[in-house]
Amino acid sequence: MIDKANPPAIESVPNSVSRRDFIKGVITSGVAVSSASYLFRASTLLHGQQLSAGVSERLITVNVNGQQRRVDVMKQETLAWTLRYKLGLTGTKLGCDRAECGSCTVLIDDIPYYSCSVLTHTVRSRKVLTIEGLASADGTLHPVQQGVIDEQGFQCAFCMPGFLMTAVGYLKTNPSPTRQQLAQGVSGCLCRCQDYDKILTALMRGAENTRRAQLG
Ligand code: FES
Ligand code: FES
Repeated sequence: MIDKANPPAIESVPNSVSRRDFIKGVITSGVAVSSASYLFRASTLLHGQQLSAGVSERLITVNVNGQQRRVDVMKQETLAWTLRYKLGLTGTKLGCDRAECGSCTVLIDDIPYYSCSVLTHTVRSRKVLTIEGLASADGTLHPVQQGVIDEQGFQCAFCMPGFLMTAVGYLKTNPSPTRQQLAQGVSGCLCRCQDYDKILTALMRGAENTRRAQLG
């Protein structure tokens, strides 16, 4: 029992002991210290430079149909997805989404590519042309588009943008193809309506229109 009249003297703890104990405490609570610094780093990530660097990496500029389009893309995002669902260019169709049908074909630097199999962030410094960019600014159809009108090619026309973009790309390498050569040139495209003969007739007319347009 404590004698309130003569309380025991409070033992003063020397400063040096207190510091030693503190250091021991820090060493033994190392995990807690690490966790704390981890939390600190996490909060730096959330509010500091590193996150903004990540965000700016996702914001890229792509040249589509002659326009510089700024778009936020995920690393695994395909060009077909970006064109259709971020840029509103739904003329590019998604059929198989696995490089089999050709309905998503666009030109990248004048070469036909399946846009379902191209990652958007890889086309940053390149020129993408979709079906929406084929006609002239004044609305004049591209000669290959005009060929489709002239011959009334295609049935449901779901496959048409892919065939047209492929044909336009192919005709740049071979402006005067035989029917068989053109068939080979667009063989990466499939038509679910199986309207190949009519399609080929329309594309041949498109090739002829293109040659005529180039002659002026
Ligand atoms: S959707 Fe790209 S090849 Fe079929
Ligand atoms: S015309 Fe219908 S898919 Fe080709």
